[in-house]
Amino acid sequence: MMLLGTQRLNDRDHLEIGGCDTVELAERFGTPLYVMDEQLIRDNCRKYLAAFGKRYPRVKVPYAGKAFLTMAMARIIQEEGLCLDVASGGELYTALEAGFPADRLVLHGNNKSEEELTLGLQSGVGRIVADSVFELEMLDRLTRELGRDVSILLRTKPGIDPHTHRRIQTGQEDSKFGLGIKTGEALEAIKLALTLPRVKLTGIHCHIGSQLLHLDTHLDAIQILVDFMKEVQDATGATLDEVNVGGGVGIRYLPEHQPPSIDEFAERLIGTLEQRLEESGLPRPVLEVEPGRSIVGEAGTTLYRVGGLKDIEIPKEPGRRIYVNIDGGMSDNPRPQLYEAVYSCALANRSSGSETRTVTIAGKHCETDILIWDTSVLLPRPGDLLAVQSTGAYNYAMASNYNRLPRPAVVLVKDGQADLIVQRETYQDLIRQDRIPTRLT
Ligand code: LLP
Repeated sequence: MMLLGTQRLNDRDHLEIGGCDTVELAERFGTPLYVMDEQLIRDNCRKYLAAFGKRYPRVKVPYAGKAFLTMAMARIIQEEGLCLDVASGGELYTALEAGFPADRLVLHGNNKSEEELTLGLQSGVGRIVADSVFELEMLDRLTRELGRDVSILLRTKPGIDPHTHRRIQTGQEDSKFGLGIKTGEALEAIKLALTLPRVKLTGIHCHIGSQLLHLDTHLDAIQILVDFMKEVQDATGATLDEVNVGGGVGIRYLPEHQPPSIDEFAERLIGTLEQRLEESGLPRPVLEVEPGRSIVGEAGTTLYRVGGLKDIEIPKEPGRRIYVNIDGGMSDNPRPQLYEAVYSCALANRSSGSETRTVTIAGKHCETDILIWDTSVLLPRPGDLLAVQSTGAYNYAMASNYNRLPRPAVVLVKDGQADLIVQRETYQDLIRQDRIPTRLT
């Protein structure tokens, strides 16, 4: 198996994460269980700050909370000195309740409600990333009504199609997000923003896509953004002071995945930025990058208990298939269903004792919720513990109660200590919001 972060096999032949034996974690906290490796999260935060900070004088790194956000996570991000990108009223509320400094928050969303914008303005968030003319007009009205000023970035579409699953592409021309650069929409919106008395336009933003394993699209994007900043200066006289290139690099889901390192990302992005700035004669803006997946993805492991196996004959290649049933599935990890996402797994309670076989890991939902097709592992037995790796990003964050499965607990591990940071839901939690109208009683 690939060993990520602090993962290792201990002398009991069990998978250990953060110095904690996963067999014990499963006994203590139950399964399915999300285990988050705190040290790896912190190391990734530090890598981003160091890699960008040593190469460029003006850097801001907001962690994209959509990947994984709980109150404890907000604390870690705060301690590590990153900013925090929140993409809804709920994420904003979570961060504020955790005591995260509002001036380090960046509020995102393509359809922020009046209520969300008001919460952002009243709590004094550092930046709001405006997505449309409609939103600029709403911000103009709300800032006047509330008597508050706000600094904003304008979300643009650089018109790039990155090499990633079509459902996680966002920077192409035909996208619901932001305003087109090539179409002139973004410039028109900037002209409007510059007239708003309480709205201060500090810069521009784009996000092109996620799980990017090559840097070319980020490099294209930064060039397009700098060229656009020059165009803005020529057309309006305004010099924008911030440029945000959106999410970070991809991660390893399979041993053969080779994402660029954070260092390489910083080196090439900043190299391209500096060159383009020089050509355009623009001063250095603050450079911002908003990584989510690459901060938390490899730090998460989901532990499942193996149930029964089905070894069946199938009419097509490969002739047989062994289905290994686990006690979770698309409710705790919908990514295979949504994006045909791939994962690797291994037994957590032993690394020998049966032969290696090609098996298919099946969820327990009333759907064909296959978590992993045809993966090579030690043949599991009922009761074994299965660890699925790289589940830290967009798993807990996207979990649901489909089939009325309670959502799993999340445990944070570090230096042999395990702390529950999200309690497992109970059956009572499932009916908490249900109401039976009197006419049905
Ligand atoms: N900034 C913005 C404005 C974003 O929309 C995103 C991700 C990020 C930053 C962080 O990107 P990252 O560093 O994580 O690549 N649910 C999908 C991913 C959706 C990404 C949405 N935006 C998945 O599970 O693959």
